[in-house]
Amino acid sequence: MDLNQIKKEAQESIQKCQELTALDDIFRRYLGKKGSLNSLFRTMSDNSLQDKKILGKQLNEIKTELEQIISERRKQLNEKLLSQKSKGKIDIHKPGKRFKIGHLHPLTKVIYQMEDIFQTMGFSVIEGPELETEYYNFDALNIPADHPARDVWDTFWLKDIKKGNKSLLRTHTSPNQIRYMEKHHPPLRIIVPGNCYRHESTDRSHGFQFLQIEGLMVDKEISLANFKAIIQKFCELFFGPDVVFRITPDYFPFTEPSLEVSIMDKHGRWLEIMGAGLVHPNVLKAVGYPANEWQGFAFGVGVDRLAMIKYGIDDIRLLYQGDLRLIEQF
Ligand code: PHE
Repeated sequence: MDLNQIKKEAQESIQKCQELTALDDIFRRYLGKKGSLNSLFRTMSDNSLQDKKILGKQLNEIKTELEQIISERRKQLNEKLLSQKSKGKIDIHKPGKRFKIGHLHPLTKVIYQMEDIFQTMGFSVIEGPELETEYYNFDALNIPADHPARDVWDTFWLKDIKKGNKSLLRTHTSPNQIRYMEKHHPPLRIIVPGNCYRHESTDRSHGFQFLQIEGLMVDKEISLANFKAIIQKFCELFFGPDVVFRITPDYFPFTEPSLEVSIMDKHGRWLEIMGAGLVHPNVLKAVGYPANEWQGFAFGVGVDRLAMIKYGIDDIRLLYQGDLRLIEQF
């Protein structure tokens, strides 16, 4: 293309240009590294020495000229912007509108944090169904139908769809011990977070729906010492190094011996945070593990409890009401 034409074209587009960003584009198109003038400079070597001199001079003149009118136009556009501003059209210094974005619910935060802690100790995170069968929720966990301990888990039974397979809303996450062991060979370490349901009246420390995290570790020569070490580490990482916890005896049909873990709150009161114990031989039998070869420990942590203690919330129902005045504090 001939030089004068390029020049004319550039001048026209600079004069027409109304936006600073578009002006930058024009600059790049003609004067940038890969712009038209530079590529002309590059092709100059094909010409004779005489031609080169003339062409080089012309190119340099155009270059300076274009640089000048671009910078003039830039000044004009800037002034235009400022005068619009003073007329109240736009205030380029005004901060933008802040969008309201959501954040995680305190219960979700607690679950994520617990998952992180247990994952660093080699536990995998597993999920299981909230709609359970009687077999997994009770029978396989060594809780026969006529056993008084079954009453501890006040149950929402469902009208049976299939005969002989009574369904219910799981009353704890423990059925996933069975579900997982049925399909996997030891050694294993899992945690299973999820909703649980109990048919009981609600008060500040009980809801008919709550969250649990089940834990299960099966290996050779597992003892309560392993359980204590893992739980101590968990409590320290979750509550801080000064946490005070205790382990006392309890009773569950699917663990032997059975334990309860409590931690001390600010007021010196013990608060139970989990049930636990060594996996009962009958449970290992139900999934076909030879009990003399494998041992394990299991625990069930109350997630709502942990959240309440950590954040100083004194009524579990607040965690489920979706009240923004509470949720927005986290
Ligand atoms: N599933 C028991 C409960 O709800 C807790 C538990 C889990 C106890 C695992 C021992 C072992 O209440």
